[in-house]
Amino acid sequence: MIKTHIYKNSNEGSIVVANKISSLIKKKEELNQKCVLGLSTGSSPIKTYSELIKMHKKEGLSFKNVVIFNLDEFYPMKPNSQFSYHKFMFNKFLKHIDIQKKNVNIPKGDISNKEIRNYCENFEKKIDNLGGIDLQLLGIGTNGHIGFNEPGSNINSITRKIIISNHSRLVLSKDFKSIDNVPKHAITMGIKTILKAKKIILIAWGKIKSEIIRKTLKEKINPLVPASYLQSHRNTEFMFDNDSSSYL
Ligand code: GLP
Repeated sequence: MIKTHIYKNSNEGSIVVANKISSLIKKKEELNQKCVLGLSTGSSPIKTYSELIKMHKKEGLSFKNVVIFNLDEFYPMKPNSQFSYHKFMFNKFLKHIDIQKKNVNIPKGDISNKEIRNYCENFEKKIDNLGGIDLQLLGIGTNGHIGFNEPGSNINSITRKIIISNHSRLVLSKDFKSIDNVPKHAITMGIKTILKAKKIILIAWGKIKSEIIRKTLKEKINPLVPASYLQSHRNTEFMFDNDSSSYL
């Protein structure tokens, strides 16, 4: 059963998400445990990251105890490219807080094809060795992808190299100026990796997400709508504004 929350706008909703994250970080700190966060790129979590940066600067919220695992990265992609998710995460969030570099895990887009399999297995192992992801943040693509788990992704999929769908490449062409510049592949956590998280928060703002949100929540689990797999997770919340929830 997915819990849903509707906020007046993305500002209000993002403050709530940031508060949930900061409470978890503080709780884990009190227990002297690491807080393992799964993070996402895209426009949806940007305001949440800004709120967390504010909490760090104004209230002293510390990320020293936080380990992050990002969902995905383009392949091939150099980390210092302006289009990389590495750059995105550092610019929008990580360089503004006191997270330790050794605790930042973003799939690498600059390894050779031969290395990918091993690399992905180690990425999974690293998550498991830390006791799993405490809280996974997700956005949703207009075709229902989560991370880069495109339609057709298997429920048992783990971190792997995938082909980015034409639909997604077209959406991404806005950032890359032309569809020809959008990489054809990505490395992404799998559906199984995501469903292993103890808690999941999916963020969806704006009218553009309303139809896929309806399909995700109102229709049966369907591999062609990867986000619908979240119906099988025990502790998932969806955060909406009025527009994204308008077809529910
Ligand atoms: C991207 C990312 C996803 C993200 C989604 C939605 O392609 N791979 O992780 O959640 O698309 O992006 P946005 O939040 O900008 O709508």
